[in-house]
Amino acid sequence: PSKEYLFNHKGFYFVTQGATPENIDALETFEIRDSDIFIATFPKSGTVWMQNILNLILHEGHRNGTEDVENMDRIPWLEYNFRNMDYAALPSPRVFATHLPYYLTPRDLRNKRVIYVTRNPKDVVVSYYHFTKIMSSLEEVSDFSLFLERFLAGKVMGSSWMDHVTGWYSHAQDFNILFLTYEEMKKDLRSAVLKICNFLGKQLSEEEVESVVRQAMFENMRKDPRANYEKMPGHREEDGKCLFLRKGTVGDWKNLMTVAQSERVDEVLKKKMESLPIKFIWD
Ligand code: PPS
Repeated sequence: PSKEYLFNHKGFYFVTQGATPENIDALETFEIRDSDIFIATFPKSGTVWMQNILNLILHEGHRNGTEDVENMDRIPWLEYNFRNMDYAALPSPRVFATHLPYYLTPRDLRNKRVIYVTRNPKDVVVSYYHFTKIMSSLEEVSDFSLFLERFLAGKVMGSSWMDHVTGWYSHAQDFNILFLTYEEMKKDLRSAVLKICNFLGKQLSEEEVESVVRQAMFENMRKDPRANYEKMPGHREEDGKCLFLRKGTVGDWKNLMTVAQSERVDEVLKKKMESLPIKFIWD
């Protein structure tokens, strides 16, 4: 019998490993502090990158290397409590990562701080496809065309990319929200870090900003055991190495998608995306 990898709850797909309808429902009344910060994303849009940046900005010990705390221990996933942490016992400011759509987030998150990161959906689906090969919680789909159709139909963890992004953008006024794109972070990481510092009201010196930027760069982050999710539970690698930080580039979709597949994405998404207040780098 085939394993059920996903379940749908309130119109949204979750992975069965790590979440239940009951604990998702319980999140509605999850207690929020004024100082909380949420990183919200559709999967594969730069979540882990943002987790690392926030840890580097907020924790001096993380920045200067005196503290050896993995990112996921400091910034857990709200809806997938892999490590059975007591979220209420975390020191302020707490930071959570989430893939939830805006309408399933805790009720008291209204007007609180959220950083929402988006990425060109073509790169998202390609990154996602590679990810299914390494995560045992996701169904491995060997045929990219098939995975692409599932992605476009919203039959993946995170559901429809379009709905996720549109939902968060059209409900921006309900939160205190900073929107960033993966592409702008790639293009000018320093400016993105400064935007985040400004949003969080965190003053860093010139050297500290430099240090955050340096350590958040792909190659450096990849070498940082606190950041590269090597000990992420449930990945398929034999040698125990997690390829969470795979390639980290803009436009990798061109190495995988055929012209027909790229046109298929354009056909389904491009027109709808014209209404979004973000412009994507398509080529
Ligand atoms: S997840 O599973 O949803 O949390 O994945 P997520 O972290 O959102 O996305 C993973 C992709 O982000 C890339 N990444 C980075 N790119 C550039 N610079 C840095 N520092 C960085 N850190 C993570 C990661 O490599 C995945 O993209 P791909 O294209 O697969 O490499």
